[in-house]
Amino acid sequence: MVGQKVITIAQQKGGAGKTTIAAHLGVALVQRGLRVAMIDIDPQGSLTHWHRIREERFGEGYTGIHFSSLSGWRVGTEVSRLRPHFDIILIDSPPHVETEARTAIRNADLIIIPVQPSPTDLWATKATVDIAKAEKVPLLTVLNRVNSKSRLYDIIRRELHDVSHSILSNRIIFAAAMMDGFGVTELEPNGQASLEIKDLAREALKMLPKEANKNFSNVRTAENSKSLAMA
Ligand SMILES: Nc1ncnc2c1ncn2[C@@H]1O[C@H](COP(=O)(O)OP(=O)(O)OP(=O)(O)O)[C@@H](O)[C@H]1O
Ligand SMILES: [Mg+2]
Repeated sequence: MVGQKVITIAQQKGGAGKTTIAAHLGVALVQRGLRVAMIDIDPQGSLTHWHRIREERFGEGYTGIHFSSLSGWRVGTEVSRLRPHFDIILIDSPPHVETEARTAIRNADLIIIPVQPSPTDLWATKATVDIAKAEKVPLLTVLNRVNSKSRLYDIIRRELHDVSHSILSNRIIFAAAMMDGFGVTELEPNGQASLEIKDLAREALKMLPKEANKNFSNVRTAENSKSLAMA
């Protein structure tokens, strides 16, 4: 294993914000100078769709992200192939598919579990937490689509374990930026949504200490993505 760098975003509950977090977190990490690879193992292909729009906008090989879309059972091989070349590998996983999610969790160094502040999201979270614990992978539950005026937020937060300090509020820009292939940190670098994502990026990196303390090489991400694609 070359450093701790694989982050799987998992949550059995559909629509919790896995793909949204993958896209914005990935871009925020690229902007920190990290070489980022993303793997989409969700047959819905939402992250793949976002990346395609990004390619149309920036040009193929110039999105700053190395992207693969594949079936969950191939994720272990892909992670081994990518590990030496990237600082962070982000995996977006599907809802409801335990075997696929489990494989993605087993191959990770950190699990991010988005949870919306609702009872059904809270109850659904246990299944994913249990897999992460069984596989002995550290996890971070992240409250997403938070409405700070809701009392439910405090109640749900108290019920959660391994909950992050950072939260993501319910903000249209998280969806709107994705429509155009962007991360929020590109569209409104100093906006509230960007600050929230940057906080989450910092917190996630702290949980990958071996990686966070490493001196990253200055290889430009797009060049790196291109050379790997050609390999
Ligand atoms: N913080 C947020 N603010 C506003 N909208 C959000 C936020 N997070 C997610 N959404 C919206 O919620 C919906 C579901 O988000 P997303 O697709 O990221 O969830 P998911 O967990 O990947 O879903 P699936 O389980 O189907 O893969 C999308 O329409 C997305 O734009
Ligand atoms: Mg998704």
